[in-house]
Amino acid sequence: MTNKPKNGNGSEIFEPAAEIVKNANVQEYEKLYKKSIEDREGFWAEQAENLDWFKKWDKVLDDSNKPFYKWFVNGKINIVYNAIDRHLKTWRKNKLAIIWEGEPGDVRTYSYHALDREVTRFANVLKSMGTKKGDIVTIYMPQIPELVFAMLACAKIGAAHSVVYGGFSVEALAERIEDANSKVLITADGGYRRGKIIDLKNIANEAMKRSPTIEVCITVKRTGHEVFMENDRDFWYHDLISIPFANNKCETEIMDAEDMLFILYTSGTTGRPKGVLHTHGGYAVYTATTHKMVFDIKDDDRWWCAADPGWITGHSYIVYGPLINGSTIMMYEGAPNHPYPNRWWQMIEKYGVTILYTSPTAIRGLMRFGEAWINRHDISSLRLLGSVGEPINPEAWKWYFKEVGKEKCPIMDTWWQTESGGFMITPLPITPLKPGSATKPFFGNEVAVVNNKGEEVKVGEEGKLVIKSPWPGMARTIYKAPDRFVETYWKEFEKQGWYKAGDSARIDKDGYVWIIGRIDDVIKVSGYRLGSAEIESALVSHDSVSEAAAIGLPHELKGNAIHAFVILKAGLKHNKELEKELKEHVKNEIGAIAKPEAINFVETLPKTRSGKIMRRVLKAQALGQDVGDLSTLDD
Ligand code: PRX
Repeated sequence: MTNKPKNGNGSEIFEPAAEIVKNANVQEYEKLYKKSIEDREGFWAEQAENLDWFKKWDKVLDDSNKPFYKWFVNGKINIVYNAIDRHLKTWRKNKLAIIWEGEPGDVRTYSYHALDREVTRFANVLKSMGTKKGDIVTIYMPQIPELVFAMLACAKIGAAHSVVYGGFSVEALAERIEDANSKVLITADGGYRRGKIIDLKNIANEAMKRSPTIEVCITVKRTGHEVFMENDRDFWYHDLISIPFANNKCETEIMDAEDMLFILYTSGTTGRPKGVLHTHGGYAVYTATTHKMVFDIKDDDRWWCAADPGWITGHSYIVYGPLINGSTIMMYEGAPNHPYPNRWWQMIEKYGVTILYTSPTAIRGLMRFGEAWINRHDISSLRLLGSVGEPINPEAWKWYFKEVGKEKCPIMDTWWQTESGGFMITPLPITPLKPGSATKPFFGNEVAVVNNKGEEVKVGEEGKLVIKSPWPGMARTIYKAPDRFVETYWKEFEKQGWYKAGDSARIDKDGYVWIIGRIDDVIKVSGYRLGSAEIESALVSHDSVSEAAAIGLPHELKGNAIHAFVILKAGLKHNKELEKELKEHVKNEIGAIAKPEAINFVETLPKTRSGKIMRRVLKAQALGQDVGDLSTLDD
């Protein structure tokens, strides 16, 4: 049976198919949602029971020091014990944990037993390097299995990881290493992307020159091209893990539920990226529960989250949530259209993938090549689809639903953030869907759309999205910057105690949430999160630039594209050459995703009297819109 569109309340509704409803892990939403709000702690305690604890918690939620909430107080746990160790005692020991395909076509698979062996070896190596509880190890790698081993090895011994996306470049990596004060860096010689080698080790070498905290750099040999290795600092991964002690047993460290699991740097409104901090207990419960309920995870599923582990989506839904649930996860190293646009469909067919979770940008990109590429393959194994990272336009939604899902796979459009740890507003497989809406809050979450005074706006009106209640997966703080944590998310609605998401949204008369987009200086480019300030500081670090402003403007494929406005140093003239050079400069400093689409050379920038660039004025001008209130504009 297929989902049938029908017209209700002005927008199309896709009702779930009977078979999906019949077999779904969660059979009913409204009643359970109500229950989860009335007894939030009870709901989360029940979910936490599905995990293995060394010692149970004394109290589910401690809200005595808002907004620094604590979950599962005094509980003892390790997320790796749940993601690996406990499966070894069951039949899942021999179940496939990871199916990985490299871009050149090489394939590796790991059972849970094999995953344990790899993680244990790496954990022993890290320990022998002096890595211990509380340290932060920076990981800068392509999408290869060793990236997952590295993350899990850190967590197993109680160290925290800070994964820097492999698409980032020198300055982005250097500032993250420095902020985390990492002594150990794990990288690879390179990775494959669209048939080319990305030279990660050389970028890492440059970054280590800029941030000298690194004492040990461990390099995985992936591409085999020549790279510079410094004596006494650089070691090959394969050499280290073949030292006999690496095979010794390694006990999984007993952690407090509130101990740091990782930090992940993400862009904010101002200044440098911030290290969003997540913990072992609450994050484990939240990612596992949301993954299992929203994607209806069954033991015979083959789950493919086609994100990169370097972003929160990969942390929560390639690595932790799925492994805790004992799923078989699919990973692919490279580009979706390499060597041809059928690459994904080919892999779905080959491995029998049952659930695909990706971004609107990827969907739009593949849509451009047409469905003929899909139709060369039997992708009937798919039963559910997902979308994340930016609003999905109804046209892309419908294409995804029809051509990929063959009108039988519901699309889970999940709204969430690095800070939220896991899905916040999302359908379940049983939810009637409206293309472009993330539908309703997940269990335990109360959300609202409000005006600047904190009053709920009328049905259908746009306003600020807030979350009114705490949840176990929430970020605990910003690393070394608790004030910034309070300032960024909690200050504006301090009186009410609400979390400000930074997005605008509207809620329709059926209670469906429609996300509109960021209302701060965060720019979502192809679903990747960048900050105006980072791009501006990269531009200003170029010799010819005196001042710069960066904004996001709508882009058909990428959602948004970066447009920069640059004032050159006195006496300099702009030309095509310089424009190209500046674009390359941003790419080399931050990464290809930050490369501006266009650079406009200007004489002045609109600023407030206190000297803050008014980016919204630039944006309104570029879009030919009303520039709004200019009372704070200087001159
Ligand atoms: O603007 C929202 C958008 O992505 C932002 C969070 O970005 P990041 O921390 O990088 O996490 C992305 C992956 C979870 C949000 O503030 N966003 C994320 N998912 C959606 C979305 N916008 C609309 N619909 C979504 N499903």
